[in-house]
Amino acid sequence: METSISRCIFLLFTTLLVATKGYKPVIIIHGMLDGAAEMHFMHDMIMKAHPGTNITIPDVYSYYKSLEHLWKQFPDYLKAIQDVINQSPNGIHLVCFSQGGLMCRAVVEQLDNHNVESLILLSSPQMGQFGDTSYVKEFPKSRYEVYRLCYDLSLIGQQISVCEYWNDPYHQPEYQERSDFLAVLNNQSAHSQSQQWRKNFMRLKNVVMIGGPDDGVITPWQSSHFATYDKDLNITEMKDQEVYQKDYFGLKTLDSRGALHTYGIAGVNHTFWHRNQTVFDCCIEQFLT
Ligand SMILES: *[C@@H]1O[C@H](CO)[C@@H](O)[C@H](O)[C@H]1NC(C)=O
Ligand SMILES: *[C@@H]1O[C@H](CO)[C@@H](O)[C@H](O)[C@H]1NC(C)=O
Ligand SMILES: *[C@@H]1O[C@H](CO)[C@@H](O)[C@H](O)[C@H]1NC(C)=O
Ligand SMILES: *[C@@H]1O[C@H](CO)[C@@H](O)[C@H](O)[C@H]1NC(C)=O
Ligand SMILES: *[C@@H]1O[C@H](CO)[C@@H](O)[C@H](O)[C@H]1NC(C)=O
Repeated sequence: METSISRCIFLLFTTLLVATKGYKPVIIIHGMLDGAAEMHFMHDMIMKAHPGTNITIPDVYSYYKSLEHLWKQFPDYLKAIQDVINQSPNGIHLVCFSQGGLMCRAVVEQLDNHNVESLILLSSPQMGQFGDTSYVKEFPKSRYEVYRLCYDLSLIGQQISVCEYWNDPYHQPEYQERSDFLAVLNNQSAHSQSQQWRKNFMRLKNVVMIGGPDDGVITPWQSSHFATYDKDLNITEMKDQEVYQKDYFGLKTLDSRGALHTYGIAGVNHTFWHRNQTVFDCCIEQFLT
Protein backbone atom coordinates (compact mmCIF):
# COMPACT_ATOMS: atom_id res chain seq x y z
CA MET A 1 0.00 0.00 0.00
CA GLU A 2 2.65 2.39 1.08
CA THR A 3 4.78 1.57 -1.93
CA SER A 4 1.92 2.08 -4.34
CA ILE A 5 1.19 5.46 -2.82
CA SER A 6 4.78 6.55 -3.06
CA ARG A 7 4.89 5.17 -6.59
CA CYS A 8 1.83 7.23 -7.38
CA ILE A 9 3.43 10.32 -5.94
CA PHE A 10 6.59 9.61 -7.87
CA LEU A 11 4.69 9.25 -11.14
CA LEU A 12 2.75 12.42 -10.46
CA PHE A 13 5.95 14.21 -9.67
CA THR A 14 7.75 13.10 -12.81
CA THR A 15 4.70 13.90 -14.93
CA LEU A 16 4.58 17.38 -13.45
CA LEU A 17 8.27 17.76 -13.94
CA VAL A 18 8.04 16.83 -17.60
CA ALA A 19 5.00 19.05 -18.07
CA THR A 20 6.65 22.07 -16.50
CA LYS A 21 10.22 21.46 -17.59
CA GLY A 22 9.44 20.10 -21.03
CA TYR A 23 12.73 18.59 -22.03
CA LYS A 24 13.59 19.47 -25.56
CA PRO A 25 13.46 16.73 -28.19
CA VAL A 26 16.69 14.83 -28.80
CA ILE A 27 17.98 13.28 -32.00
CA ILE A 28 20.64 10.58 -31.77
CA ILE A 29 22.84 10.00 -34.81
CA HIS A 30 24.77 6.73 -35.08
CA GLY A 31 28.35 6.31 -36.21
CA MET A 32 30.28 4.25 -38.70
CA LEU A 33 29.56 0.53 -38.92
CA ASP A 34 26.77 0.70 -36.42
CA GLY A 35 23.13 1.66 -36.68
CA ALA A 36 20.03 2.92 -34.96
CA ALA A 37 19.73 -0.36 -33.02
CA GLU A 38 22.98 0.22 -31.16
CA MET A 39 21.81 3.63 -30.01
CA HIS A 40 19.12 2.23 -27.71
CA PHE A 41 21.53 2.39 -24.77
CA MET A 42 21.71 6.15 -25.13
CA HIS A 43 17.97 6.30 -25.67
CA ASP A 44 17.35 4.39 -22.42
CA MET A 45 19.77 6.50 -20.38
CA ILE A 46 18.05 9.68 -21.56
CA MET A 47 14.57 8.31 -20.88
CA LYS A 48 15.58 7.26 -17.40
CA ALA A 49 17.07 10.64 -16.55
CA HIS A 50 14.49 12.74 -18.39
CA PRO A 51 11.25 10.77 -18.72
CA GLY A 52 9.00 11.91 -21.53
CA THR A 53 11.75 13.20 -23.78
CA ASN A 54 10.83 12.82 -27.44
CA ILE A 55 13.80 10.97 -28.94
CA THR A 56 14.34 10.32 -32.64
CA ILE A 57 16.97 7.91 -33.94
CA PRO A 58 17.13 8.01 -37.73
CA ASP A 59 17.44 4.47 -39.02
CA VAL A 60 19.39 5.26 -42.16
CA TYR A 61 22.81 4.28 -43.57
CA SER A 62 23.52 1.65 -40.95
CA TYR A 63 26.45 -0.75 -40.87
CA TYR A 64 28.25 -1.05 -44.25
CA LYS A 65 26.06 1.67 -45.73
CA SER A 66 27.64 4.09 -43.25
CA LEU A 67 30.78 3.91 -45.40
CA GLU A 68 28.97 5.44 -48.35
CA HIS A 69 29.77 8.89 -49.63
CA LEU A 70 28.80 11.31 -46.85
CA TRP A 71 27.16 13.84 -49.13
CA LYS A 72 25.03 11.02 -50.48
CA GLN A 73 23.93 10.24 -46.93
CA PHE A 74 23.44 13.88 -46.05
CA PRO A 75 19.90 14.51 -47.40
CA ASP A 76 18.39 11.77 -45.25
CA TYR A 77 19.96 13.13 -42.09
CA LEU A 78 19.05 16.67 -43.01
CA LYS A 79 15.43 15.69 -43.50
CA ALA A 80 15.26 13.71 -40.25
CA ILE A 81 16.66 16.59 -38.24
CA GLN A 82 14.65 19.22 -40.07
CA ASP A 83 11.40 17.31 -39.44
CA VAL A 84 11.99 17.38 -35.70
CA ILE A 85 13.03 21.04 -35.75
CA ASN A 86 9.85 21.98 -37.60
CA GLN A 87 7.78 20.54 -34.75
CA SER A 88 9.94 21.89 -31.92
CA PRO A 89 9.70 25.65 -31.64
CA ASN A 90 11.58 25.63 -28.33
CA GLY A 91 14.69 23.99 -29.70
CA ILE A 92 16.25 20.56 -29.90
CA HIS A 93 19.49 18.75 -28.99
CA LEU A 94 21.71 16.50 -31.07
CA VAL A 95 23.71 13.59 -29.66
CA CYS A 96 26.07 12.39 -32.36
CA PHE A 97 28.42 9.46 -32.19
CA SER A 98 31.73 9.18 -34.05
CA GLN A 99 31.35 9.77 -37.80
CA GLY A 100 27.79 10.85 -36.99
CA GLY A 101 29.28 13.92 -35.33
CA LEU A 102 30.64 15.11 -38.66
CA MET A 103 27.26 14.53 -40.24
CA CYS A 104 25.65 16.56 -37.45
CA ARG A 105 28.08 19.41 -38.00
CA ALA A 106 27.29 19.36 -41.73
CA VAL A 107 23.57 19.60 -41.01
CA VAL A 108 23.97 22.37 -38.42
CA GLU A 109 26.19 24.41 -40.76
CA GLN A 110 23.67 24.16 -43.57
CA LEU A 111 20.42 24.75 -41.72
CA ASP A 112 19.62 28.45 -41.74
CA ASN A 113 17.85 29.67 -38.58
CA HIS A 114 18.05 26.26 -36.92
CA ASN A 115 17.23 25.95 -33.22
CA VAL A 116 19.72 23.25 -32.22
CA GLU A 117 20.90 24.17 -28.72
CA SER A 118 23.37 21.49 -27.68
CA LEU A 119 25.49 19.63 -30.19
CA ILE A 120 26.95 16.71 -28.24
CA LEU A 121 29.84 15.03 -30.02
CA LEU A 122 30.77 11.61 -28.67
CA SER A 123 34.22 10.57 -29.75
CA SER A 124 33.76 12.24 -33.09
CA PRO A 125 36.77 12.86 -35.38
CA GLN A 126 36.08 16.55 -35.82
CA MET A 127 39.56 17.20 -37.20
CA GLY A 128 39.71 13.96 -39.11
CA GLN A 129 41.26 10.55 -38.82
CA PHE A 130 44.82 9.36 -39.35
CA GLY A 131 44.89 5.91 -37.87
CA ASP A 132 43.58 2.40 -38.07
CA THR A 133 41.35 1.70 -41.05
CA SER A 134 41.48 -2.09 -40.86
CA TYR A 135 37.68 -2.14 -40.83
CA VAL A 136 37.69 -1.02 -44.46
CA LYS A 137 39.01 -3.97 -46.40
CA GLU A 138 39.86 -1.98 -49.52
CA PHE A 139 42.36 0.13 -47.58
CA PRO A 140 46.15 -0.30 -47.41
CA LYS A 141 47.40 -1.69 -44.13
CA SER A 142 49.70 1.25 -43.42
CA ARG A 143 48.13 4.59 -42.61
CA TYR A 144 51.00 6.28 -44.44
CA GLU A 145 49.71 4.77 -47.68
CA VAL A 146 46.01 5.51 -47.29
CA TYR A 147 46.33 8.98 -48.80
CA ARG A 148 47.20 7.42 -52.17
CA LEU A 149 43.73 5.98 -52.26
CA CYS A 150 41.81 8.71 -50.48
CA TYR A 151 43.27 11.73 -52.20
CA ASP A 152 43.28 10.18 -55.65
CA LEU A 153 40.00 10.97 -57.29
CA SER A 154 40.53 8.42 -60.06
CA LEU A 155 40.61 5.62 -57.50
CA ILE A 156 38.03 5.13 -54.79
CA GLY A 157 38.97 8.62 -53.72
CA GLN A 158 36.28 10.43 -51.88
CA GLN A 159 33.64 7.77 -52.47
CA ILE A 160 34.24 6.17 -49.09
CA SER A 161 33.26 8.16 -46.04
CA VAL A 162 36.55 7.70 -44.17
CA CYS A 163 38.41 9.30 -47.07
CA GLU A 164 36.25 12.37 -46.83
CA TYR A 165 37.71 13.14 -43.42
CA TRP A 166 41.07 11.45 -43.83
CA ASN A 167 43.53 14.05 -42.54
CA ASP A 168 47.11 13.06 -43.34
CA PRO A 169 49.59 15.49 -41.73
CA TYR A 170 52.17 14.67 -44.44
CA HIS A 171 49.84 15.56 -47.31
CA GLN A 172 48.05 18.71 -46.25
CA PRO A 173 47.79 20.42 -49.65
CA GLU A 174 46.14 17.31 -51.08
CA TYR A 175 43.87 17.09 -48.07
CA GLN A 176 42.72 20.66 -48.53
CA GLU A 177 42.16 20.17 -52.20
CA ARG A 178 40.56 16.74 -52.14
CA SER A 179 38.74 16.29 -48.85
CA ASP A 180 35.22 17.02 -50.01
CA PHE A 181 33.67 16.86 -46.54
CA LEU A 182 35.89 17.79 -43.61
CA ALA A 183 37.91 20.46 -45.41
CA VAL A 184 34.65 21.95 -46.66
CA LEU A 185 32.98 21.94 -43.23
CA ASN A 186 36.14 23.50 -41.83
CA ASN A 187 36.17 26.14 -44.51
CA GLN A 188 39.70 25.05 -45.37
CA SER A 189 38.75 25.00 -49.00
CA ALA A 190 36.94 28.03 -50.31
CA HIS A 191 33.30 27.72 -51.16
CA SER A 192 30.54 30.19 -51.78
CA GLN A 193 28.43 29.36 -48.72
CA SER A 194 31.17 29.59 -46.11
CA GLN A 195 29.87 32.80 -44.50
CA GLN A 196 26.38 31.42 -44.09
CA TRP A 197 27.60 28.04 -42.81
CA ARG A 198 29.73 29.79 -40.23
CA LYS A 199 26.79 31.88 -39.12
CA ASN A 200 24.65 28.78 -38.74
CA PHE A 201 27.29 26.96 -36.71
CA MET A 202 27.59 29.94 -34.37
CA ARG A 203 23.88 29.67 -33.49
CA LEU A 204 24.68 26.69 -31.25
CA LYS A 205 24.46 27.30 -27.51
CA ASN A 206 26.72 24.39 -26.55
CA VAL A 207 29.21 22.21 -28.35
CA VAL A 208 30.10 19.32 -26.06
CA MET A 209 33.21 17.37 -27.06
CA ILE A 210 33.75 14.03 -25.37
CA GLY A 211 36.66 11.69 -26.05
CA GLY A 212 39.51 9.92 -24.39
CA PRO A 213 42.84 8.11 -24.66
CA ASP A 214 41.45 4.56 -24.52
CA ASP A 215 39.15 5.08 -27.48
CA GLY A 216 41.22 2.85 -29.75
CA VAL A 217 39.63 3.92 -33.05
CA ILE A 218 39.66 7.71 -33.40
CA THR A 219 43.27 8.67 -34.11
CA PRO A 220 44.51 10.90 -32.71
CA TRP A 221 41.80 10.57 -30.06
CA GLN A 222 42.18 14.34 -29.49
CA SER A 223 40.50 14.84 -32.84
CA SER A 224 37.35 14.50 -30.73
CA HIS A 225 38.46 17.83 -29.18
CA PHE A 226 39.21 19.47 -32.54
CA ALA A 227 42.97 18.76 -32.18
CA THR A 228 45.10 17.25 -34.92
CA TYR A 229 48.52 15.76 -35.68
CA ASP A 230 51.52 17.80 -36.78
CA LYS A 231 54.32 16.40 -38.92
CA ASP A 232 56.01 14.83 -35.89
CA LEU A 233 52.72 13.22 -34.97
CA ASN A 234 52.56 15.49 -31.96
CA ILE A 235 49.24 17.00 -31.14
CA THR A 236 48.32 20.48 -32.26
CA GLU A 237 45.60 21.63 -29.93
CA MET A 238 42.48 23.29 -31.24
CA LYS A 239 43.60 26.75 -30.15
CA ASP A 240 46.94 26.46 -31.95
CA GLN A 241 45.41 25.79 -35.34
CA GLU A 242 44.77 28.35 -38.00
CA VAL A 243 41.17 27.21 -38.46
CA TYR A 244 40.55 28.22 -34.85
CA GLN A 245 42.73 31.32 -34.71
CA LYS A 246 41.24 32.79 -37.87
CA ASP A 247 37.82 31.54 -36.86
CA TYR A 248 37.30 29.79 -40.21
CA PHE A 249 33.99 28.26 -39.23
CA GLY A 250 33.03 29.93 -35.96
CA LEU A 251 34.80 27.78 -33.40
CA LYS A 252 36.67 30.66 -31.82
CA THR A 253 33.57 32.78 -31.55
CA LEU A 254 31.73 29.96 -29.81
CA ASP A 255 34.68 29.51 -27.48
CA SER A 256 34.76 33.18 -26.56
CA ARG A 257 31.11 32.88 -25.64
CA GLY A 258 31.86 29.94 -23.32
CA ALA A 259 29.94 27.55 -25.55
CA LEU A 260 32.63 24.87 -25.90
CA HIS A 261 32.76 22.11 -23.29
CA THR A 262 35.62 19.64 -23.50
CA TYR A 263 35.77 16.32 -21.66
CA GLY A 264 38.70 13.88 -21.79
CA ILE A 265 37.79 10.62 -20.11
CA ALA A 266 39.99 7.55 -19.70
CA GLY A 267 38.82 3.95 -19.65
CA VAL A 268 36.27 4.05 -22.44
CA ASN A 269 36.65 2.06 -25.67
CA HIS A 270 35.21 3.48 -28.84
CA THR A 271 32.06 1.38 -28.92
CA PHE A 272 31.20 2.17 -25.30
CA TRP A 273 30.80 5.93 -25.39
CA HIS A 274 27.09 5.80 -26.03
CA ARG A 275 26.40 3.19 -23.38
CA ASN A 276 28.50 4.35 -20.44
CA GLN A 277 26.38 5.65 -17.59
CA THR A 278 29.29 7.51 -15.96
CA VAL A 279 29.92 9.42 -19.17
CA PHE A 280 26.25 10.19 -19.54
CA ASP A 281 25.98 11.44 -15.96
CA CYS A 282 29.06 13.62 -15.99
CA CYS A 283 29.01 15.09 -19.42
CA ILE A 284 25.76 14.66 -21.31
CA GLU A 285 22.71 14.91 -19.07
CA GLN A 286 23.25 18.51 -18.01
CA PHE A 287 23.14 19.68 -21.62
CA LEU A 288 19.84 17.97 -22.43
CA THR A 289 17.69 20.69 -20.92
C1 LIG B 1 7.97 13.19 -31.31
O1 LIG B 1 8.34 14.09 -32.31
C2 LIG B 1 7.97 13.70 -33.59
C3 LIG B 1 8.60 14.65 -34.59
O2 LIG B 1 8.86 15.89 -34.08
C4 LIG B 1 6.45 13.69 -33.68
O3 LIG B 1 6.06 13.29 -34.97
C5 LIG B 1 5.93 12.72 -32.65
O4 LIG B 1 4.53 12.77 -32.64
C6 LIG B 1 6.45 13.04 -31.28
N1 LIG B 1 6.07 11.98 -30.38
C7 LIG B 1 5.51 12.22 -29.20
C8 LIG B 1 5.20 11.03 -28.36
O5 LIG B 1 5.29 13.35 -28.81
C1 LIG C 1 36.57 30.92 -44.81
O1 LIG C 1 35.45 31.76 -44.77
C2 LIG C 1 35.71 33.13 -44.81
C3 LIG C 1 34.41 33.84 -44.79
O2 LIG C 1 33.67 33.52 -43.67
C4 LIG C 1 36.50 33.51 -46.00
O3 LIG C 1 36.84 34.86 -45.96
C5 LIG C 1 37.76 32.67 -46.05
O4 LIG C 1 38.47 32.95 -47.19
C6 LIG C 1 37.41 31.22 -45.98
N1 LIG C 1 38.62 30.42 -45.96
C7 LIG C 1 39.02 29.76 -47.01
C8 LIG C 1 40.24 28.95 -46.85
O5 LIG C 1 38.43 29.78 -48.03
C1 LIG D 1 57.23 16.02 -30.45
O1 LIG D 1 57.19 15.10 -29.41
C2 LIG D 1 58.44 14.60 -29.07
C3 LIG D 1 58.26 13.48 -28.07
O2 LIG D 1 57.14 13.67 -27.28
C4 LIG D 1 59.31 15.72 -28.52
O3 LIG D 1 60.57 15.25 -28.16
C5 LIG D 1 59.43 16.78 -29.59
O4 LIG D 1 60.14 17.88 -29.08
C6 LIG D 1 58.08 17.22 -30.07
N1 LIG D 1 58.23 18.07 -31.20
C7 LIG D 1 57.75 19.29 -31.25
C8 LIG D 1 58.04 20.04 -32.50
O5 LIG D 1 57.11 19.77 -30.34
C1 LIG E 1 32.78 4.02 -18.22
O1 LIG E 1 33.43 5.24 -18.03
C2 LIG E 1 34.33 5.27 -16.93
C3 LIG E 1 34.95 6.65 -16.87
O2 LIG E 1 33.98 7.62 -16.78
C4 LIG E 1 35.39 4.23 -17.08
O3 LIG E 1 36.22 4.24 -15.97
C5 LIG E 1 34.76 2.86 -17.29
O4 LIG E 1 35.77 1.93 -17.56
C6 LIG E 1 33.79 2.91 -18.41
N1 LIG E 1 33.14 1.61 -18.60
C7 LIG E 1 32.98 1.05 -19.77
C8 LIG E 1 32.34 -0.28 -19.79
O5 LIG E 1 33.29 1.59 -20.80
C1 LIG F 1 38.85 -2.10 -24.44
O1 LIG F 1 39.83 -2.42 -25.38
C2 LIG F 1 40.94 -3.11 -24.83
C3 LIG F 1 41.95 -3.27 -25.93
O2 LIG F 1 41.37 -3.72 -27.10
C4 LIG F 1 40.47 -4.44 -24.25
O3 LIG F 1 41.57 -5.10 -23.68
C5 LIG F 1 39.42 -4.16 -23.19
O4 LIG F 1 38.91 -5.36 -22.70
C6 LIG F 1 38.29 -3.33 -23.75
N1 LIG F 1 37.38 -2.95 -22.70
C7 LIG F 1 36.07 -3.06 -22.80
C8 LIG F 1 35.28 -2.57 -21.61
O5 LIG F 1 35.52 -3.53 -23.77
